[in-house]
Amino acid sequence: MAEDPIIAQTSPYQVDLVEGETYWYCRCGRSQSQPFCDGSHQDTGIEPLEFVAPSTGTFNLCGCKATDDEPWCDGSHNVL
Ligand code: FES
Repeated sequence: MAEDPIIAQTSPYQVDLVEGETYWYCRCGRSQSQPFCDGSHQDTGIEPLEFVAPSTGTFNLCGCKATDDEPWCDGSHNVL
């Protein structure tokens, strides 16, 4: 059975992404390389999310792991 995600931080991570590049978003909250996967999800039953940047620019990636729009911040951290 999967463990619950933990809150990495209660605000989004602002990161620069490059259009067409593939990234691995941490969904377990345990990575030390937030908001990206560092393999810490091993044995949690939670898998990272592979996604491709839609454009080049700065994006807000969810740090609280409660968003309904992974990997993007949807404001859910405001009601934790
Ligand atoms: S940081 Fe998770 S919804 Fe904003």
